[in-house]
Amino acid sequence: MANRFRVGAAFLSGAAALASVAAAQAPRPAFTPQDERIEDLPDTPGREETFGLCSACHGYRLVSNQGMTRERWDDTLTWMVQRHGMADIQGADRDVVLDYLARHHPPRAPSRAGGFRNPFAPE
Ligand code: HEC
Repeated sequence: MANRFRVGAAFLSGAAALASVAAAQAPRPAFTPQDERIEDLPDTPGREETFGLCSACHGYRLVSNQGMTRERWDDTLTWMVQRHGMADIQGADRDVVLDYLARHHPPRAPSRAGGFRNPFAPE
């Protein structure tokens, strides 16, 4: 009787240890979509740096859904640092990331200023 109890307890603690190993090996934070792969992004300088930096906290899609000028991307980086504690990269490291963001995620055309006319707007 006492023996059976000890075997059961050993099995349970073994299972708990296995579960914690599995949790420690999760490759990314749970909130980063698993279907996002760096290979799907345009392969120009800065891809590794940008994907690595930005997808540490959220899906890269949150970034690629936006279209901004280089200046506004710069503001966004500052915002991520101040509000969310992102690494405060400066100098050449920052330029590489900003170049990549501005090149592949520019403001969307046509903009209102560029002559877009709402066909449903009253004359
Ligand atoms: C330290 C964590 C962290 C890192 C690193 C990070 N972000 Fe964020 N980011 C967040 C959080 C948290 C949110 C969502 C909450 C919010 O909008 O304030 C967010 C939201 C955003 C949004 C959406 C804003 C909106 O209007 O909905 C954009 C765009 C963005 N991040 C861009 C970036 C870019 C570009 C990088 C890489 C250069 C980056 N983030 C890296 C934490 C981070």
